[in-house]
Amino acid sequence: MSRRPLIAGNWKMFKSRAEALAFAERLRQELAVAGAAEVAICPPYTSLDVVAGALAGSGVGVFGQNGHAATDGAHTGEIAMAMLVDAGATGVLLGHSERRADNNETDQALAAKVPAALAAGLTPVLCVGESEFERDTGTTKSVLDRQVLEGLSGVARGDFGKVVVAYEPIWAIGTGKSATPEIAQEAHGWIRAQLREICADEADDMRLLYGGSVKPENAAELLAQPDIDGALVGGASLDADSLLAIAAAAS
Ligand code: 13P
Repeated sequence: MSRRPLIAGNWKMFKSRAEALAFAERLRQELAVAGAAEVAICPPYTSLDVVAGALAGSGVGVFGQNGHAATDGAHTGEIAMAMLVDAGATGVLLGHSERRADNNETDQALAAKVPAALAAGLTPVLCVGESEFERDTGTTKSVLDRQVLEGLSGVARGDFGKVVVAYEPIWAIGTGKSATPEIAQEAHGWIRAQLREICADEADDMRLLYGGSVKPENAAELLAQPDIDGALVGGASLDADSLLAIAAAAS
């Protein structure tokens, strides 16, 4: 079993097309700094094509930040998985806590979205994680169980190895307060154990990313944990040098 580290930069609702292009061109020039890690960028929809164009053939992934389970239809404001592919995407974030909070993204909806992403040929990144209240009240593991088991309930045997799970404790997102390596590893180890229950032969191939205030200064010790196979980076991914430093820490 060897899992290639994945460092994905979630730009959320930041960067114009011109800023995205400048970033992608710089990333392309400096990619050797990333070492052995796989790098992916998750731009807003409007910049998917510019980032994909500038990074074509570089091996850098380009991920959407959401996608709809239906192939097409009357869903104003939504985007189909095949449309992400058409714009140059190779993967998609699903169930980010900001979408669960702002857009009422449910585990049932995600159960349909993950297989839809796989059917379109995209790498799905299912995001899970507990709130501060859930951690303080001792329900972290049951929250993670529900989010992982329901979110992946539509995945067919043989496809689990293509799915990435990102553990992002909500209390660590955008707060500067990262989980300690011990807390992050405990959650990742728990998720891996649950995955072994549902797909024993593929669980050790699945990459589990940690997200929540990852920066160049704390990346190495988080990424050194046995069940942390990469990072989903928000704020620190908006600067190419800082994203590359995090990728270098994964090598
Ligand atoms: P920050 O790295 O800004 O805490 O954001 C994490 C995140 O939400 C990535 O998806």
